[in-house]
Amino acid sequence: MKYDVTTMFPLSVYSAMIEEHKQWKEVFMNDVYGDYQYDRYDSDGAYNVVSEHCGRPVIHCDERMAEFFKLISNHIKNYCTSTLGMKDIFEVCMVKSWISRSQENDENLPVHVHSATHISFVYYMNVPVDSNVLVFTVKNHQNEVFQGVFGDDEINTWMNEYTLHSTPHYQITPEEGKLVIFPSSAAHFTVPVNQTPQNFQSERLAISGDCILVLKEDEPMKYPMGYTNPKNWCVY
Ligand SMILES: [Fe+2]
Repeated sequence: MKYDVTTMFPLSVYSAMIEEHKQWKEVFMNDVYGDYQYDRYDSDGAYNVVSEHCGRPVIHCDERMAEFFKLISNHIKNYCTSTLGMKDIFEVCMVKSWISRSQENDENLPVHVHSATHISFVYYMNVPVDSNVLVFTVKNHQNEVFQGVFGDDEINTWMNEYTLHSTPHYQITPEEGKLVIFPSSAAHFTVPVNQTPQNFQSERLAISGDCILVLKEDEPMKYPMGYTNPKNWCVY
């Protein structure tokens, strides 16, 4: 049977291996990490995977990490111009950055989005064997011909196999020095590689962050969408 399929409107997740990883790992682990420690458990005894809500989610303001965040911002610009085809008229404005860590494989993040910003990233600083994987998911799959047909019911399923055109999940395996960039609105979570409870040999440690795109300072403000440059912002 002869036919063509045209795949349209994808979610595009960008990844790059950072060559200077060893150097940045050394700086972060030896000099910076200690200043961003946070409670392992909250008052209810639940494990705090991320420091976003209980630590200091402002690592991007730390001068010792300035060049690291510039490097990430350059990749974010590349994602926007090369992958998405945007004009080079914007700057990357980092607004939040935090630690994500697990010591056991049952310490995971549930499905969430980063609701306040445009683009988010994760950088894998330390990745022990069998580290939990990052999974992107979609709520309303455009190809889902009726509700639930691509669902997770492993027994009563209509699915023979999941293809690129039907999978509601796409998995990214963490690697040390890997930077992953994605639209902040993309839903994601983490899951263990093995189902058996397991302690990692060392911490699964990542830096995550959020940014917004703002117009360059010298760009004419002729666009009806998006942010002006922060030089024009006033906080009252
Ligand atoms: Fe996240």
